[in-house]
Amino acid sequence: MSKADDRVEKAGKRIGEVARSAEDVPRLFADLRAAFDRELATAHSTAEVESLRVRWLGRKAGLLNQVKNNWLLHAAAELKPQVGKQLNALREHVEHKVSHTLDAILARTEVSAEAVDLTLPGVAVRRGARHLITQTMEEICDIFRRLGFSAVEGPEIETAYYNFEALNMPAHHPARDMWDTLYLNLPGGAEPLLLRTHTSPMQIRVMEKQKPPVRVVVPGKVYRHDNPDASHSFMFHQIEGLAVDCGITFGHLKGVLDHFLREFFGPETRTRFVPSYFPFTEPSADVHGSCHVCRGAGCRVCKFTGWIELVGCGMVDPNVYGFVGYDARELSGFAFGMGVERFAMLKYGIDDIQLFFQNDVRFLTQFRR
Ligand code: FA5
Repeated sequence: MSKADDRVEKAGKRIGEVARSAEDVPRLFADLRAAFDRELATAHSTAEVESLRVRWLGRKAGLLNQVKNNWLLHAAAELKPQVGKQLNALREHVEHKVSHTLDAILARTEVSAEAVDLTLPGVAVRRGARHLITQTMEEICDIFRRLGFSAVEGPEIETAYYNFEALNMPAHHPARDMWDTLYLNLPGGAEPLLLRTHTSPMQIRVMEKQKPPVRVVVPGKVYRHDNPDASHSFMFHQIEGLAVDCGITFGHLKGVLDHFLREFFGPETRTRFVPSYFPFTEPSADVHGSCHVCRGAGCRVCKFTGWIELVGCGMVDPNVYGFVGYDARELSGFAFGMGVERFAMLKYGIDDIQLFFQNDVRFLTQFRR
């Protein structure tokens, strides 16, 4: 055992065992103080100083508490004042040294933190950007917002009821073949669930919740059992539109889509409506926009027709109102749906839809805004 340990050990013994007379008392305390100073000299971190503090000043097992219990409380009456005075002086010394050393360590840490050279060039953080599809969806929704539509979102996992039935396509109706669907076989699911094939189910969900007038657009992801190629993906984005009120006509539908397409593609864009079929609109139409690449003269993008198919639309079929408790004799409305990828491809001259999903930053950074 080292000499220092030997001195410290005495704190655990009764005073009668370690001091024969009053003259021994100052030496006992001087030994303890020297032992503490030596230990403190080896403590360099706040953690080390803290454990030293507990060893010496700890309330129950601390060395100074042992000195109090073994020396002060057992000292003969004539020794007590001297032992008490020496103990107080040692306690003050230990407390002062501990707090002084902690302050010094903290000050050193602060100085080294300040020692960062602020004149050095910073580490550049690469800024992210919104994906072109997100930008295009926001641009489209903004145009409709300015026309008084509000944007709402809905679930991507749907029931067959919302995706088909309430949109006028009962089970086994051949119209369902228009949308090749991905079904989810969830164990114990009472109703078969599927990944929505279009944003049109939100027509039903919105009308169920809201009394007319209705004016909404619905951006979101949709899924189809389609093979990927340059213009098809099994996941893509659509924006649905729905307006229902008293006295809405096909003229309103034409005016709204005409305005929207000019805003999006440019004021020189011309539109034409050609008859089409959707089970939930009657009459239905496809909207073609004049090709903005060749301005209608004919090119590869428009397959030399001068026109590009852009939007599916029509007047809401009166049968649909029956599913949501609207009165078809009082109300009328229009709905439309468009593929966001197609709009982005046409506007920015992108010839392969797969580029949107490959996450190649060389492609994506071209559209940083
Ligand atoms: C519909 O989905 C109808 N719900 C649109 C509608 C809404 C009509 C409201 C009437 C009233 P369609 O299946 O044609 O329609 O799809 C709309 C657009 O989605 C297409 O014009 C096309 O741009 C895009 N689209 C369809 N399949 C894919 C695919 N596999 N990959 C990428 N885009 C696709």
